[in-house]
Amino acid sequence: MVDPLNLKGKTVLITGAAAGLGRAFAHHFARVGATVIIADINEGGLAETKSLLEDIGVTNFAQNVDVTDAKSCRALAQSVQDRFGGIDVLVNNAALYAGLDRRAFEEFDEDVWDKVMAVNVKGVWQMCRAFSTQLRASGAGSIINVASATVFSGSPQWMHYVASKGAVIAMTRVMAKEMGGDNVRVNALAPGFTLTDASFGHIEDARGYGVDRAALKRNADVDDITGAAIYLASDLSKFTTGQTLVVDGGKQFI
Ligand SMILES: NC(=O)c1ccc[n+]([C@@H]2O[C@H](COP(=O)([O-])OP(=O)(O)OC[C@H]3O[C@@H](n4cnc5c(N)ncnc54)[C@H](O)[C@@H]3O)[C@@H](O)[C@H]2O)c1
Repeated sequence: MVDPLNLKGKTVLITGAAAGLGRAFAHHFARVGATVIIADINEGGLAETKSLLEDIGVTNFAQNVDVTDAKSCRALAQSVQDRFGGIDVLVNNAALYAGLDRRAFEEFDEDVWDKVMAVNVKGVWQMCRAFSTQLRASGAGSIINVASATVFSGSPQWMHYVASKGAVIAMTRVMAKEMGGDNVRVNALAPGFTLTDASFGHIEDARGYGVDRAALKRNADVDDITGAAIYLASDLSKFTTGQTLVVDGGKQFI
């Protein structure tokens, strides 16, 4: 029997792979045999992820991308097509997250609001659009859109971010319906608060933050989240689409 968790022969593209969860997704997909393509707007961080992967013997392909720019997404799709003949899995992980100010909704700056929507919402659409032909051609494509459990908790003073991730879940459902005919599955992965460098930079007591509300009495490390992405990419979830998988240690039940 073929091991459904073995992603050998699958090509996986991860955006936002210069740091944090994106870097961890790249490591974990490589560990289960996938060919890994990494992309990010942050060239330095991306080069660091590339060499960290190479240090553990993982050949990978890295290319700069700005997900808000249709041309940049199309250029990435063209290079991937030329080198690999397409992708099977797209992980839309790039987002504006930790650097964002927390403010009452009445006080957001319009430019900041627009920037969050451009990266977190339009960016997901642009990437899906640029890679739609390749994913449909895969015969068993999977899109994993990284959302956030804040959509369900309604995290206060962060409405731009929460709204953007709500839109990601909504787009996931639409694309699942539109792409299902070509056996492309589209799911959202909604992590709860996760200990990445970005999180440590924006919450003072990151380790203790909100753990009293969690069933599992701790916050997630990146490897608490990556398994869910591998599940959503693999044949183990071959009849699952349009869903949102919340991985938050039981902070809220929805
Ligand atoms: N860490 C958490 O607690 C948490 C919880 C829920 C959801 N998330 C989501 O998980 C994902 C990763 O979070 P993280 O903690 O690793 O944050 P992070 O800030 O370290 O990673 C985001 C990455 O996206 C990249 N990026 C930003 N704008 C881009 C653009 N225009 N084009 C291409 N790349 C761009 C950044 O350079 C960065 O490498 C994000 O979607 C975030 O919203 C994180």
